[in-house]
Amino acid sequence: MSSTKKILLAILIVLIVIQFIQPARNTSGQVLQTDIVKVSNVPQSVQTVLKTACYDCHSNNTRYPWYANVQPMGWLLARHVKEGKAELNFSEFGSYSPRRQANKLRAIENSIKDGTMPLSSYLLLHKDARLTETDKTEIIDWVRRTRDSLTQNE
Ligand code: HEC
Repeated sequence: MSSTKKILLAILIVLIVIQFIQPARNTSGQVLQTDIVKVSNVPQSVQTVLKTACYDCHSNNTRYPWYANVQPMGWLLARHVKEGKAELNFSEFGSYSPRRQANKLRAIENSIKDGTMPLSSYLLLHKDARLTETDKTEIIDWVRRTRDSLTQNE
């Protein structure tokens, strides 16, 4: 066998072997009492946008595309979910301190304004997660209202 063939064969074997290493799924299937929709008054339209564009990485329930079964794509996805949830988890928002909630709401407003969220790599494959100008305005209005109500409670 030529060395090129040996290398190709080795790559193929690696690709096959890694298919058996499936990361754990982020699908609790529950809506916790700490979910942002339970602890704050989120308009239906904003809930829909958050679920479509943010919950895959920022909640306990990811909707997995078919390629999540293909490694290393599944690993990349798992990393985004892990990092995204560590920064902001809408399913557990109610367990944050009022100060952390206010900080996260400010961070949401900034991420929407400067267009860093949803991640651009995600938008490539999720066209429905692109935010329209109306979506952005509605999210920002909701964030501001919620932040004001937090400071009033302090
Ligand atoms: C594909 C996964 C993914 C999607 C979808 C996504 N995010 Fe993120 N988000 C991340 C990751 C990963 C981080 C942490 C690393 C970083 O900041 O880039 C993050 C960080 C953030 C932060 C920063 C938190 C902080 O305290 O600094 C905010 C705010 C945020 N995301 C809001 C959103 C909003 C709002 C949406 C929906 C409109 C969204 N994200 C969609 C993956 C995602």
